[in-house]
Amino acid sequence: TSILILNGPNLNMLGKREPDVYGHETLEDVIAELEKVAASAGCVLQHVQSNHEGDLIDAIHQAKGVHQGIVFNPGAFTHYSYALRDAIAAVSLPVIEVHISNVHARESFRHHSVIAPVALGQIVGLGTLGYQLALRALLHKLQDQTA
Ligand code: DQA
Repeated sequence: TSILILNGPNLNMLGKREPDVYGHETLEDVIAELEKVAASAGCVLQHVQSNHEGDLIDAIHQAKGVHQGIVFNPGAFTHYSYALRDAIAAVSLPVIEVHISNVHARESFRHHSVIAPVALGQIVGLGTLGYQLALRALLHKLQDQTA
C-alpha cells in the first residue's frame, strides 16, 4: 500500500507558526512519526507540501494509479478551494481531511469545509496526532476493501 501525505499552504511553517494554535512540532517531525506508523503497517508514504493550489491539484491527479489514498491538510484552501474539491472528486481516491487545530472553535470562516463532502472523513482539533489517526483509518479502510 502506498499513501500520499499532502499538506497545503503555510504548513511548511509548522513549529514556528502560531505555536499556541499549531504546537511546536515541525512538519518533518510529523512525517517522521507517520513513517513509523507506515513501517509497522508495511505501507509506503510519499509526502508533498506546497503553498500553491495548482501544485496540490497536480499532486492529487498524479496520485491516481500510484497511491491508494490521501491524508490531506489543505490549510486555508479547505474553506474555499472548489478546484481542490473537484480534483479529489476527479480521482475518486479515499481522502481523509486533517486539521491540527479545532477549526470549529476559531473564526467563523474556518467552520466551513468545501473539501469535507468529497472526503471519506475528517479529523479536527487533535493536534498533529490527527495525521497518525488519519493514516491508520485509511489503512483500516483499505484493508477492509481487499479482505
Ligand atoms: C488548518 C486550519 C486552517 O483553517 C488553516 O488555514 C491552516 C491550518 C489546521 O490544520 O488546523 O492553515 O488546516
